[in-house]
Amino acid sequence: ISLKNYNTFGIDVKARFFVEITGLVQLQKVLELKAYPKKFIISGGSNMLLTKDIDALVVHLKLKGISIVEENENFVEVKAMAGENWHDLVMWSLEQGFGGLENLSLIPGNVGTAPIQNIGAYGVELKDVFVSCAAMDVKTGELEGFDNEACEFGYRDSIFKNEAKDKYIITSVVLKLTKKDHVLHTGYGSIENELKEKGIVHPTIRDISDAVIAIRRNKLPDPKEIGNSGSFFKNPVISQKAFDRFTKKNPNAPFYEMDDNQFKIPAGWLVEQCGFKGKRFGDAGVHEKQALVLVNHGSATGKEILDLSKKIQDEVQKTFKIKIQPEVNIIK
Ligand code: EPU
Repeated sequence: ISLKNYNTFGIDVKARFFVEITGLVQLQKVLELKAYPKKFIISGGSNMLLTKDIDALVVHLKLKGISIVEENENFVEVKAMAGENWHDLVMWSLEQGFGGLENLSLIPGNVGTAPIQNIGAYGVELKDVFVSCAAMDVKTGELEGFDNEACEFGYRDSIFKNEAKDKYIITSVVLKLTKKDHVLHTGYGSIENELKEKGIVHPTIRDISDAVIAIRRNKLPDPKEIGNSGSFFKNPVISQKAFDRFTKKNPNAPFYEMDDNQFKIPAGWLVEQCGFKGKRFGDAGVHEKQALVLVNHGSATGKEILDLSKKIQDEVQKTFKIKIQPEVNIIK
């Protein structure tokens, strides 16, 4: 079967075998199937670039359910199954009046993949609300718990991209949300502007979510209309020395100062400076409003997108002596 509708890049590769999973016991049984030694897990398909047919049993996770597992007058702990759509969970939390997820509105993908890359936007990362997740060991079928610390979260990074890579399937996530006295993150410039434009002085969590949605709709392509995986590259983090050299040559470049004398440079800016913004090579292209996002205009192959990404990396390296790395999981 074609996986075109199972990855947000809309890459048309085929799965040798395919099964849809709706329960944990079913997942255990499928993992035990000796007839299919290789399994490939797919959930929201929002952070992968498929570059060839998958010669394995593709396991599509459709574990569903949202429930409250702990509650007091201030906080609530919400458990969401891996196959729930992330944005639907955010909308559900807002309907309940729970705070914490509003800045993470409209991020494509499912709940189960959110911890893998510690999704983040507009000053908030998953790790800020994350309590724990349950993950199934693919070898034993046993469920294990990972608390916040065990996940080793970093910028678009976690243990599931490193030591634990391909060893676990995240089956559910528990998040701690606020019921009152919400701490709002409005510091991000574009959110401030959006609120100001609407004349909102005392924003609610819903106002923040609406602002984020408006900003994202403006800048980022909707995968339903044009295939993409959000930011294709991570923003590079460079040392003070490299930064001094960089700003001397590029005094107008945007940057964020981080802890311990490190500086994050927006990769979108670097890519745009290299002239790639809005460019198209066949059906593989760079989004016209955000150069960090690679897009599939229709029938690009994964290889074409990958080649374009390498061309961009080389050009950025040549122009700025800075390495940019993909954030998207490239399946070769
Ligand atoms: N910029 C350009 N040209 C571009 C794009 C950006 O010059 O084509 C400049 C902007 O002018 C701005 C700076 O780069 O000064 C930052 O741009 P933006 O606010 O759009 O954020 P970003 O650093 O490009 C990151 C995340 C996004 C997240 C936004 C908002 C990464 C890799 N990306 O992008 O995450 O939504 O911040 O918090 O960290 C994603 O991961 O898929 C994603 C979309």
